[in-house]
Amino acid sequence: MPHIITKKHTNLKTPSSKDGVNFNFIATNPKEDKISVTVDGKTFLLTKLEKNGNHLIKLDVTTRVTPISIAKQALKAYSELTNCEIISSNIAQSKTKLEPQKEYLKDISYFVEDFKTTKEVCVEVGFGSGRHLLYQAKTNPNKLYIGLEIHTPSIEQVLKQVRIENIENILVVNYDARLFLEFIASNSINQIFVHFPVPWDKKPHRRVMSLEFINEALRVLNIEGSLELRTDSPLYYEYSKELYENYREKSIISKNQDLEISSKYEDRWKRMGKDIWNLTIYADKLSKEIALEKNFTFDIKNSYTFDKLVEKLPAKPIVGEDFMFHFSHPFKISETSGIIHVSMGSFNKPFSIYLFVNGEKISYFITLPVPTSSNHKAHKQIMKILKDEDTK
Ligand SMILES: C[S@@+](CC[C@H](N)C(=O)[O-])C[C@H]1O[C@@H](n2cnc3c(N)ncnc32)[C@H](O)[C@@H]1O
Repeated sequence: MPHIITKKHTNLKTPSSKDGVNFNFIATNPKEDKISVTVDGKTFLLTKLEKNGNHLIKLDVTTRVTPISIAKQALKAYSELTNCEIISSNIAQSKTKLEPQKEYLKDISYFVEDFKTTKEVCVEVGFGSGRHLLYQAKTNPNKLYIGLEIHTPSIEQVLKQVRIENIENILVVNYDARLFLEFIASNSINQIFVHFPVPWDKKPHRRVMSLEFINEALRVLNIEGSLELRTDSPLYYEYSKELYENYREKSIISKNQDLEISSKYEDRWKRMGKDIWNLTIYADKLSKEIALEKNFTFDIKNSYTFDKLVEKLPAKPIVGEDFMFHFSHPFKISETSGIIHVSMGSFNKPFSIYLFVNGEKISYFITLPVPTSSNHKAHKQIMKILKDEDTK
C-alpha cells in the first residue's frame, strides 16, 4: 500500500492542485483526516493520521484505486504542496518501469452500464499471478476473458503482461468476485474458473463458493456453461462437494487431473505431493433475465448540520432479513458537510462506501453501490432513516 511517513505538518489548503493532481476537500475526525483527490479523472481518498509522533499518509482502503501509480502520484503531489519533511516512503516510481495496460482495467460501473460483447465470455475469479488467465486468453483469441482480483499487485502484474504480449481479449476488474455476478446478464457467460480460492478454514462465510454464488453462477452461465473449482484444500473440497449436492445439474468431480496449464499455486502443491480436486458443475437450463434496480439517489432534503445528522444515525448495525448497513466514522468537512463511512449490502459480504452530505444534498461517494438486491434494500432503509430525520 503506497504511503509516506512525514514529520508532523499542517494540513493542505483545499482546493489546490499540482501536476495534474487535484485535492478537492479534507474531511476530519478526531483520529484521522480523509483527503479527497482526483487524478486522471479518478477520485479517491487519502488517509492522514498521527503515528508515533509523525504523520502517516496512505491510500484509503474504501476508495481503493488502480493502477497504484495514481496513488503514488497523489502522495508525491501532496508532499510537494505541503512541503512536509518525508521520513520514509514507498512511492518512488521508476521511470523505466513498464506501466500496466490501463485500457483493459475496467471499473465495476462499466459492467453495470456499458458492457456488451458478441464474443463468448469466460470469467476467472482470483487470477493471482494470472498464468491461467493469460494462457486461456492467448489460446482462445476469439473469446473474452474477465479476470476478477482484489490484490492490486497481481492486477498490475497481469496488465503489464497483457501489454508485453499484446493481448486484446482480457478485461480486468478490481472487485470482490462474490458480488460481481449479481448484475451480469443471465445466460451470458460460458465458463467460470475458481482456481485455488483462499480456503478461509476459520471464516468459511468469506469463501467465494457458497450456495448464493453457485446460484448466481448457474444463472449467468449459458446452457452447458461450466463453473470449475480447483482446490488443494481437503476442507474446501468437502465443503464444495456438499454444496454441489444441492443441485440437480450435472457435476463432475475428479482428483489429480492435470489441466493444460498449471498455476503457480498448483505447481507448489504438486511439488509437495498434495492432492488437487476439480469440481465442475454444468448449467442445464436457461435462466430468467433479472431486472436491476439502479436508483440509488436520495430523494430528500437534509435540514440538519453535519454533527446533528450524525448524532441521529443508528450507531449499531441494522440487519434485515437479506440486507444490512452500518454507519461508522463520520468525517466533517464543514458545519453542513462531511462524509460518513457505511458498510452495506448482504450480511456475509457487505461492501464499504461513504455517504456524502453536502448541505441539503446527500449522495453516495465516490461511486454508486452496484445494483444488487441487498444493496437496494439497504439503500431504501437508509433513505427511510434519513427521511424520518428530515421530517422530524
Ligand atoms: C490462493 S490464490 C490463487 C491464485 C490463482 N488462481 C492460482 O491458481 O494461482 C487466491 C487469489 O484469489 C484472490 N481473491 C481472494 N478472495 C477474492 C474475492 N472475493 N474476489 C476476487 N479475488 C479474490 C486473492 O487475492 C488471490 O490472488
